[in-house]
Amino acid sequence: MNVITTPADLRLCAQEAHAKGQTIALVPTMGYFHAGHEDLIRHGRSIADLLIVSLFVNPTQFGPAEDLDRYPRDHERDSQIAKNLGCDVLFMPDPPDMYPKDFATWVEVPSMSKLLCGAARPIHFRGVCTVLTKLFNLSAADFAVFGEKDWQQQAIVKRMVKDLNIPINIQTRPTVRESDGLALSSRNVYLSKEERLQAPNIYAGLKWAQNLVSQGERNVEIIRSGLLNRWASQIPLGRLDYLTVVDPASLTPISTIEGPAVMACAIRLGTTRLIDNIMLNA
Ligand code: PAF
Repeated sequence: MNVITTPADLRLCAQEAHAKGQTIALVPTMGYFHAGHEDLIRHGRSIADLLIVSLFVNPTQFGPAEDLDRYPRDHERDSQIAKNLGCDVLFMPDPPDMYPKDFATWVEVPSMSKLLCGAARPIHFRGVCTVLTKLFNLSAADFAVFGEKDWQQQAIVKRMVKDLNIPINIQTRPTVRESDGLALSSRNVYLSKEERLQAPNIYAGLKWAQNLVSQGERNVEIIRSGLLNRWASQIPLGRLDYLTVVDPASLTPISTIEGPAVMACAIRLGTTRLIDNIMLNA
């Protein structure tokens, strides 16, 4: 595995691969790998000749009061995992190389970035779109792989790629979960014992809502208030950030379920903010 740290070297490596007729897959990550990342990396490995994994805790997607400094990091362990999974190139740039002093450009999809997670994290998706545009350009990847746990992120990335004619195919993978249903997240390590015990009720509640829809309920407000009642007793340590039903592609809020709809939520348990979602197929 080749470890590359500068944008110029990544560009050169991608140009050489394309010159040889190779296809390139990019798996963008912020590291601290868990089984969810491993699934993305395995998928990336299976769809292209050259697999690039980027590991960059992107400062521009963290708000001033967020966990940039304490975001969990273990570059040595991550490198070993990436290598074992057949990664060809691990890209680990330093922040000043990605954002030099005179950096002045932002990429944003405002209509999709201000709701759901964007309401509490107003600059988050601008940072995500900007760093991904840079990574897509530098890697010249034919494919990029994202997890569906962050439903909003993958929907925004698909829209950005379409709107800006970026020649890359965005592929998504289902959320990987603990055996009790909790969606895997690098931030799960922050949870106290008690919080960790309550956390699986997030997904259990989403499944309960999905079941209600499969039994014929179409009114989002009824489903939503039923779920909030459930969570109030089952996740007493939780503080709701949002629970919303949206169109899976446009993220427009839905009040009556008539077609594809995704229910997405963010809940704070202590200092940890957990997100999850489920498809409510009518
Ligand atoms: O989902 C993530 O880990 C990050 O938002 C991403 C896509 C690597 C961009 O920094």
